[in-house]
Amino acid sequence: MSERTFILVKPDGVARGLVGAVLDRAERKGLSLKALELLSVPEEVAAEHYAEHRDRPFYGELLGFITSGPVVAAVLEGPRAVTAFRQLAGATDPVEKAASGTIRGDFALETQANLVHGSDSAESAQREIALWFPDLSTT
Ligand code: PPS
Repeated sequence: MSERTFILVKPDGVARGLVGAVLDRAERKGLSLKALELLSVPEEVAAEHYAEHRDRPFYGELLGFITSGPVVAAVLEGPRAVTAFRQLAGATDPVEKAASGTIRGDFALETQANLVHGSDSAESAQREIALWFPDLSTT
């Protein structure tokens, strides 16, 4: 059974020229691209995307960061795509938690500038894909 996940290469990843490295790992894992766009994130999309974190102390910084420069948004598809990409990304804290061999573990030093986002569940993926790629067919 195939599923879809939503990913972002965050502003730090785009600025550092790591878009290709992220997509390369995803594609080599076997995930296929269904949608891809380079864009500046509108404030309202950022707020909606991170709505579940609105009570966390770093929410303001999260919005400031994700709107600080262009991002690459993508939809990836494959068996267990949500978990597969989360494993490629590694844990949120790139130094103390992300394993080496993961994107964050290999390329990032800061919890905020941790290069990538990946949906945390199939439900989140559906919500995020509808938000970022409203014209993408679900079939
Ligand atoms: S997750 O994916 O929801 O389980 O991750 P979580 O650890 O709950 O973090 C949610 C998002 O907030 C970001 N984050 C932070 N940003 C700035 N400062 C601090 N301290 C911090 N802690 C977590 C984290 O990178 C997650 O962003 P996304 O874009 O979902 O990866």
